Amino acid sequence: MEQERIIVLINGSMNNPSFTKKVLKEVEKRLQKNKAKTMFIDIRDLQLPVYDPKAESPKEIIEVSNILKKADGLVVGVPEYHGSYTGAVKNLLDYLGFEEFQQTPIALLATAGGIKSGTNTLNHLRLVFRNLHGHVIPQQFAISKNETNPELELDPSMDLRLEKFIQGLETEVHKKLLFEKWEKSQSGEVPAEK
Ligand SMILES: Cc1cc2nc3c(=O)[nH]c(=O)nc-3n(C[C@H](O)[C@H](O)[C@H](O)COP(=O)(O)O)c2cc1C
Repeated sequence: MEQERIIVLINGSMNNPSFTKKVLKEVEKRLQKNKAKTMFIDIRDLQLPVYDPKAESPKEIIEVSNILKKADGLVVGVPEYHGSYTGAVKNLLDYLGFEEFQQTPIALLATAGGIKSGTNTLNHLRLVFRNLHGHVIPQQFAISKNETNPELELDPSMDLRLEKFIQGLETEVHKKLLFEKWEKSQSGEVPAEK
């Protein structure tokens, strides 16, 4: 039986149209093909002010927080800006905390203009999520606009890397759900499987 799971995708680009969004939509399509339920958060739609610790959180943040708390897995996509992730994604994360990310497997994806780019962006973002107690999976995916075409046709090796990225996330989501089931069985909520 297919496991019920919710995977949330976040686009960390304010650009419109956004190449990162396009790649994330391809990931979403493949997740849905695997029968995962998905939700998409586009940072551009949130139009967040710069985080102010003394100000009340906008209603959009409450909504995002509730969505993230439901997530069994997360895909965060960001374009590389000056060798790192965007200010927009850091601004969103500054509004959030452990509650939204702890124990959730997170898969990181970067897009870039340069073919050899993306790795620093992914490493920087990995560090930020470690501080948010997110469980960032080892698999990550980086793609340059120059490695594809407007239809997002991927060459076989890139296609395989994208599949392995998605599989890496699905495996960790599966482990998370098994652990939660076991935890419930320990508290007597559901009988343990033999
Ligand atoms: C302000 C800015 C800085 C950028 N810095 C880099 C960079 O350091 N390395 C790189 O490869 N591409 C860089 N790019 C290109 C973007 O990463 C690339 O176009 C990306 O795919 C844009 O995705 P988006 O349309 O989703 O925003 C930069 C673009 C902008 C606007």
